[in-house]
Amino acid sequence: MPNLVAMNDLDNKTIMHLLERAEEYQRGERTPVAGTIVNLFFEPSTRTKMSFEMAQHKMGLTVLPFETTFSSVLKGETLYDTVKTLEAIGVNGVVIRHGEEEYYKELANCQISVINGGDGSGQHPTQSLLDLFTIYQEFGRIEGLHVTIVGDIAHSRVAKSNAAALKMLGAHVTFVCPKVWSGKYETSQNIDDYIEHTDVVMLLRVQHERHAGSELFSKERYHEKYGLTEKRERKMKPSAIIMHPAPINRGVEIADSLVECERSRIFKQMANGVFVRMAVLEYALKGRE
Ligand code: CP
Repeated sequence: MPNLVAMNDLDNKTIMHLLERAEEYQRGERTPVAGTIVNLFFEPSTRTKMSFEMAQHKMGLTVLPFETTFSSVLKGETLYDTVKTLEAIGVNGVVIRHGEEEYYKELANCQISVINGGDGSGQHPTQSLLDLFTIYQEFGRIEGLHVTIVGDIAHSRVAKSNAAALKMLGAHVTFVCPKVWSGKYETSQNIDDYIEHTDVVMLLRVQHERHAGSELFSKERYHEKYGLTEKRERKMKPSAIIMHPAPINRGVEIADSLVECERSRIFKQMANGVFVRMAVLEYALKGRE
């Protein structure tokens, strides 16, 4: 059965198919899909875990509970043996969030479908698909749009998944971040060079947990230099929108007053996540039709 582990593995036709199916699910279409799923979250999550659970509930799938803290993982069982065990007892698909980048490579020979719910600083394909869905619903296209992604680029799986997919679909993507967070990517250090011309400002969470206690900037300094302030928001094109995968550090990446402003699609992204994940579960359980 198909896996969904990285956006680079999908071609444009499959991405567009998934967005179309998400729209059909959003309109209320229900396609019979059967299967048993287990959600394995080895890192914290609110949106991804809960929206997968909501999607599974809406689709009438069987979901077996799995608590990492009460599993044999605590006895040292590997991820591979855990997934092979689930496969052996008849589970059809797993949704996995794991701190290790490309954890899914060790599962390549498993027959069970693997949906990546985020691998360390690697990829977050279902977040990317819900972002694409939100942008597509807003503008009716992806091609030709200017998307500015601001934040912790080197550590962000959302930035990597989205940049790959957006470029494949013909968008112009610019990364803005402090130089030290550029990783191997070409970045700008000046958000103000882009704010007036961009169609989508996509803010990323400052991932304090991945910086092992080293505060590179005070919250105030980051907000002033890279954050979406009210002053910057006023310079945006009338049609431009604000996105953020969340969780949000209010007052750091974005002014508190802008989180639910007219341009913000942040909670729309979360709502769209349910329908996108229904489309992804269908894809994983029914195959590439
Ligand atoms: N956007 C996102 O992945 O949120 P969670 O970490 O809460 O799942």
